[in-house]
Amino acid sequence: FVQEGEGSSPIPGFYDVARHGLDALNLQVEQALGLGIRIFALFPQVPASRKSENCEEAWREDNLVNRAFRQLSQRFPEALLIGDVALDPYSASGHDGFLREDGQVDNDSTLDALVKQALAQAAAGCHILAPSDMMDGRIGAIRAALEADGFQDSLLLSYSAKYASAFYGPFRDAVGSRGQLKGDKRGYQMDPTNSAEALRETEMDLSEGADLVMVKPGLPYLDIVTRIKAAFAVPTFAYQVSGEYAMLQAGIEAGLFDPRQATLELLLAFKRAGADGVLTYGATKAARWLAEID
Ligand code: PBG
Repeated sequence: FVQEGEGSSPIPGFYDVARHGLDALNLQVEQALGLGIRIFALFPQVPASRKSENCEEAWREDNLVNRAFRQLSQRFPEALLIGDVALDPYSASGHDGFLREDGQVDNDSTLDALVKQALAQAAAGCHILAPSDMMDGRIGAIRAALEADGFQDSLLLSYSAKYASAFYGPFRDAVGSRGQLKGDKRGYQMDPTNSAEALRETEMDLSEGADLVMVKPGLPYLDIVTRIKAAFAVPTFAYQVSGEYAMLQAGIEAGLFDPRQATLELLLAFKRAGADGVLTYGATKAARWLAEID
């Protein structure tokens, strides 16, 4: 998580996960690269004064996350950077898209904004655009705009199966969208009872030009990871989300299980289910433990 200003700040309820200013971010990335981690997903905490109804901060060339992409891509050319494409850190409503008068998110008018946000991130040095908003048609729209603007080499990592989950709480505190959020995200995120829908959503994203797909949350949805990998044989990532990570840390802090064994067993479960990549807040810890095994 990236913040304005210097140094790092703890995030209440998120254990050892912190927000980092741009100076502190360099050190984090340098240490992680030293452990063999090459891919980094950045999420900005946008100051409340820069949130608005029309979310124009999301595609400003010099917004916080774009400054971070510029700095990291210049300093660490070997790192691959993932940018979240969704409006929630920027919107006064805390939602991933624009709201209609009836309070529902308006899919189509949101697409234009997502395209502008994705292009700004690609121009700033972000290699992998990751739309996490679940609006229909955004992969095709972003892919077409990237091609037209000369970003043919940018990758699209689609959050293709993202469930309306109880496990995003610490993340929403980290980016400061929880207090803002009116209602819930069930209008555009998937119902936890559905599984065939995950395959249909993924198929659509792949046909629109997604390079990689992601399932989120991770552990409660490993059946979906297995089904997607089996059905499409494309690079399939899973996201061990903030609430899953916090549960693990809470158990460790309560002395209920061994930190190393529990952390690695969970990550192993993702791999066994067929995940090609795992997005986790515990990456540096896991990498240190894995290095000890060798
Ligand atoms: C927002 C977004 C969310 C996460 C990643 N991108 C939260 C949400 O959908 O409300 C959650 C990740 C986590 O909990 O670790 N577009």
